Amino acid sequence: MTDLLGNLKRTHHCCQLRDCDIDQNVVLMGWVQHRRDHGGVIFIDLRDREGITQIVFNPEFAKDTHEKAQDIRNEYVLGVKGKVIARPADMLNKNMKTGAIEVMVEELYIFSKAKTPAFQIEDRIEASESIRLQYRYLDLRRPQIKNNILARHKATMAIRNYLDDNGFIDIETPFLTKSTPEGARDYLVPSRVNQGEFYALPQSPQLFKQLLMISGFDKYYQVVRCFRDEDLRADRQPEFTQIDMELSFVDEKQIMKVSEGLITAIFKKVLDIDLVTPFARLTYEEAMTRFGLDRPDMRFGLELCDISDIVKNAGFKVFANVVKNGGLVKAINAKGCAGFSRKQIDDLTDFASVYQAKGLAWIKIKDDSSWQSPIAKFFTDEEKQALKERLDMEPGDIIFFVADQAKITNEALGQLRNELARRLELIDENSYEFIWVTHFPLLDYDETEKRYQALHHPFTAPLEEDIEKLETDPLAVKSRAYDLVLNGIEIGGGSIRIHDSKLQEKVLNSLGIDENQAKEKFGFLLEALESGAPPHGGIAFGLDRLMMLICKEDSIRNVIAFPKTQKATCPLTEAPSKTSTAQLQELGIKISRIAE
Ligand code: AMO
Ligand code: AMP
Repeated sequence: MTDLLGNLKRTHHCCQLRDCDIDQNVVLMGWVQHRRDHGGVIFIDLRDREGITQIVFNPEFAKDTHEKAQDIRNEYVLGVKGKVIARPADMLNKNMKTGAIEVMVEELYIFSKAKTPAFQIEDRIEASESIRLQYRYLDLRRPQIKNNILARHKATMAIRNYLDDNGFIDIETPFLTKSTPEGARDYLVPSRVNQGEFYALPQSPQLFKQLLMISGFDKYYQVVRCFRDEDLRADRQPEFTQIDMELSFVDEKQIMKVSEGLITAIFKKVLDIDLVTPFARLTYEEAMTRFGLDRPDMRFGLELCDISDIVKNAGFKVFANVVKNGGLVKAINAKGCAGFSRKQIDDLTDFASVYQAKGLAWIKIKDDSSWQSPIAKFFTDEEKQALKERLDMEPGDIIFFVADQAKITNEALGQLRNELARRLELIDENSYEFIWVTHFPLLDYDETEKRYQALHHPFTAPLEEDIEKLETDPLAVKSRAYDLVLNGIEIGGGSIRIHDSKLQEKVLNSLGIDENQAKEKFGFLLEALESGAPPHGGIAFGLDRLMMLICKEDSIRNVIAFPKTQKATCPLTEAPSKTSTAQLQELGIKISRIAE
């Protein structure tokens, strides 16, 4: 390559030349985006990371070079030396930054030929995602994906600058480590030198960042890869990146403030948008009551309404029984949607059933204010009047109801709320609505495992005034955890930690982790807590999710250079893959085949 480059030295990138550069001699290098042969004159769009410049091969200007250019095809890699000239008036392209000029080529170097690519290198393509991922190096040439990666770089630079300016120190933590409790399955790495033993890849640097506070580093950050073996979705990858932070001698307010500064700096740098701070706040309880989800999308209304008290004695036994059994009956008023067809209602019922709703009752309010509904006949006039007032029923509205245990009612109606907003196009795609959700419960109850588990992680501090309830009423204990939600997606979460080893033991106890198990799992942290632990807390943001929202993508795969598929595979490298018997022997591992 050095030979081929010879004395050819690139003078400009492919998005740099303007009409003020006319008559300059320049050298450009890049890929062939497009080639057109116009009656002997060849036009090529030459592309590099920055953009496109039109280059021209004219036999009257350089005969041999023009001859050589006949062979050029898409995606060939070229170096050209030539002169910047003005485009003829009828060939000016206002949509291109370099659209006023072109480069008349004198010398041509073909660095590399290229096979016909598996798909066109442009934004609108038909190729399936698996083909795109198999040829990711081509996919990354497409403007959409390339621009996402460039935006991600900008964001990372903004993050590092902001955190450095605010006194944070970047410290790396191990990847070959011990299981970290974030609630997912671990990725395990077998040890060769300690056969039969395994490292776990970190689900987050949680324990290490707490140790760093105990070491006295005060403010830590890391842009760090985390590994979680969990069911994948559009916003979940098995390996993903966190902006991970931890601070000493702080409370929730200070962490939120520094987080808002960070997010503001990212939006300014990447999108040149000035966000308004402080971001709004909601308690977990209020979020669940009004929106049914702990990650409410604040871009639209359609709030949920609890009507349990009104229907507790209703003739509609489904509702009455749910209330009697401690459940919840809630409703949404979809204003002006009484025109929904049977089919539309059936579709929404199917949608709600995905979230375990056993039905989706509805009432349409007709123009004469009368009700059309499969359940209208079950209500007394008083109940009807109370519903009308509570739900602000007006002619043209349709109300949807779900009755079930609180968890199901909230989840089903919360999701239905989002779905209705999508279908009714209530969402302003250009708005960014942040909301902090605070005061999460410390624990929830795992029905399958029949035990309490930490809602956040076991190192999250309970609210001071709730500590005494740990033994008497564990589910009523609130924590000092907070999430940051953007447009209905959880982009970050953190908490004030427990820095007292006695309290830590107590919380582990209520999780059913006894002293021995605690010692085995994270004895090192418990011991460190006895060695002078400052009050501390932190947060981690999902960089991939944040970039997905900033880049207006539907999937985090589009903001990651080399992502995995939904099945946690990489079509490019074909990972995961089988390994040799020799390698397994060295590790002391034997595969016992599991039946398909
Ligand atoms: P948490 O588990 O909430 O907290 O993770 C923090 C943020 O990371 C993102 N995230 C993911 N992004 C993509 N793919 C995944 N599989 C995935 N899992 C999580 C989310 C989430 O908000 N140690 C704590 C933080 C702390 O307490 O300081 C933690 O990891 O955006
Ligand atoms: P049924 O009497 O079962 O035909 O139900 C009458 C209406 O109530 C139907 O529209 C059902 O979808 C709805 N429905 C049934 N169970 C529930 C429930 N648990 N929550 C909300 N609506 C329900």
